[in-house]
Amino acid sequence: MNHLVAPSILAADFANLQRDIELINNSEADLIHVDVMDGMFVPNISLGLPVVKAVYKHAKKPLDVHLMIVQPERYLKDFKEAGAASITVHYEACPNLHRTVQVIKELGCKACVAINPHTTVALLEDIILDLDMVLIMSVNPGFGGQKFIDNTYKKLADIKALKRRYNPELLIEVDGGVDETNIVKLSDAGANVFVAGNAVFASADPTATIASLKHPGILSRS
Ligand code: DX5
Ligand code: ZN
Repeated sequence: MNHLVAPSILAADFANLQRDIELINNSEADLIHVDVMDGMFVPNISLGLPVVKAVYKHAKKPLDVHLMIVQPERYLKDFKEAGAASITVHYEACPNLHRTVQVIKELGCKACVAINPHTTVALLEDIILDLDMVLIMSVNPGFGGQKFIDNTYKKLADIKALKRRYNPELLIEVDGGVDETNIVKLSDAGANVFVAGNAVFASADPTATIASLKHPGILSRS
């Protein structure tokens, strides 16, 4: 498997955030996934710009910033300045998605669009060429620790077909309920960037869990 692992700090200990960032720095993780929620697009409020800046101060891996907010175009520059390497906006939150994606790229960030579980992959057909990554939500956004939705596999097959046709370099990220039991199947279905919150931080040894998400074959053989 040639894939990226992105632990989500939503499941970290916010009172020991520096410690948990350093844990990720010293692990085999590729990215640090940062979930921003506004209490409007999703029912939950998580963290905002000051926390992203604080994370960036200690991070040695690129910040993969997932904006679960309404009107994300209002804050793109701020999140870039706070340290985002990639910015994900939701299809459902962007009436002028093409413009929003161009602004993300002009800022020098990787551009990613997320779709909720009910949003059909086909809606991405006319934007996919402009994207670095697509995020297939495998839970309804808003909370960590939710049950993985099985229809994600069908959506991965659909996005894989679009990727092949329009943008072979496209990264396909999956977020929500990812763990050591489903990562190989998700990879086989086409995903190559894996967000994991609770699977990592609720485990007894987060560093070892990140390693086994990075090398799931070794785990299953042991
Ligand atoms: C959910 C967030 C996820 C969350 C995943 O809205 O986008 O990134 O942290 O958490 P787990 O891996 O616990 O499902
Ligand atoms: Zn996320």
